[in-house]
Amino acid sequence: MAGKILIIGACGQIGTELTLKLRNLYGNQNVIASDIKEGSRELMESGPFEPADANDARRVEALLDQYNISQVYLMAAMLSATAEKAPMKAWSLNMDSLFHILNFAKDKKIEKVFWPSSIAVFGPTTPKNDTPQTTIMEPTTVYGISKQTGERWCEYFHNKYGVDVRSLRYPGIISYKTLPGGGTTDYAIEIFHGALKNNGYTSFLAEDTGLPMMYMDDAIKATVDIMEAPSHKIRVRSSYNLSALSFTPKILAEAIQKEMPEFKIAYEPDFRQKIADSWPSSIDDSEARKDWQWKHDFDLESLVNEMLGGVSEQLRAEK
Ligand SMILES: NC(=O)c1ccc[n+]([C@@H]2O[C@H](COP(=O)([O-])OP(=O)(O)OC[C@H]3O[C@@H](n4cnc5c(N)ncnc54)[C@H](O)[C@@H]3O)[C@@H](O)[C@H]2O)c1
Repeated sequence: MAGKILIIGACGQIGTELTLKLRNLYGNQNVIASDIKEGSRELMESGPFEPADANDARRVEALLDQYNISQVYLMAAMLSATAEKAPMKAWSLNMDSLFHILNFAKDKKIEKVFWPSSIAVFGPTTPKNDTPQTTIMEPTTVYGISKQTGERWCEYFHNKYGVDVRSLRYPGIISYKTLPGGGTTDYAIEIFHGALKNNGYTSFLAEDTGLPMMYMDDAIKATVDIMEAPSHKIRVRSSYNLSALSFTPKILAEAIQKEMPEFKIAYEPDFRQKIADSWPSSIDDSEARKDWQWKHDFDLESLVNEMLGGVSEQLRAEK
């Protein structure tokens, strides 16, 4: 690798595990974490960390120069549920930070960019099952509008200026190392904490709300794989559909009950139900599977086992 990697928003749910994985692959000193807040001990101690606001283009540029950065992973964003409470702030963070990075890539200051999109780009008029790569997209949340717009700009910068930008429409990502940042699929993480702390959980989504989901290790694998694929294999320069599992709160609760028969679930849908209702239930990701050989590893049973094991270990360590 010619230059180093900068991860912006490295201390969040996905950024933390992505940073650790990239350090493992490319060397601790070659992967620079940055965020507006400090991250976990493992992240802070395993390699360089630089405080930086993704919207501060001058600060980001200084980091590119200081560390001879060739690749940027832009993970900073305001997520779906939080963004609905501060739409203008979400728009400004989600869009301006992307423009800064795309312009640095256009000016050849960096060679390659990863920017995550989301299933939130879809809306109530999108076909709900096996949602195709190319389809109707009329998102109704500010988060979804910002991701859809971001996708258009990524494709534009690629077509017009040759920018090597790569993107995935992540589904709900399930993990235990870092708490989630305010998304609509967070119930599928909280449920494990509820199960192990109180033997019960009240879901903020209704029992039959099916959504596309993925275990963190698969999301990290997809991210590394798309970034390592030869450029000519990346035919979609807006963002790839990406899929592993689809389940409802009821199906997840039943899978947990197989391991913990005493676990009880209740349902009290809140404002997030409306967001979930506007999203697909399942995604067709055959283009990613065909173009750069994407393949997931974790099914529902292995996800539940990993989550129960990981969260229990964390609770033991906290005691
Ligand atoms: N987690 C999911 O299920 C999911 C699903 C679809 C898409 N995504 C996308 O993946 C990316 C990462 O998501 P995540 O779940 O890790 O989010 P998160 O909220 O857990 O982490 C985002 C990180 O960005 C940092 N940040 C916020 N404002 C910043 C700023 N101005 N400058 C620098 N850093 C800032 C936060 O401190 C946080 O550490 C986002 O673009 C998100 O939209 C996530």
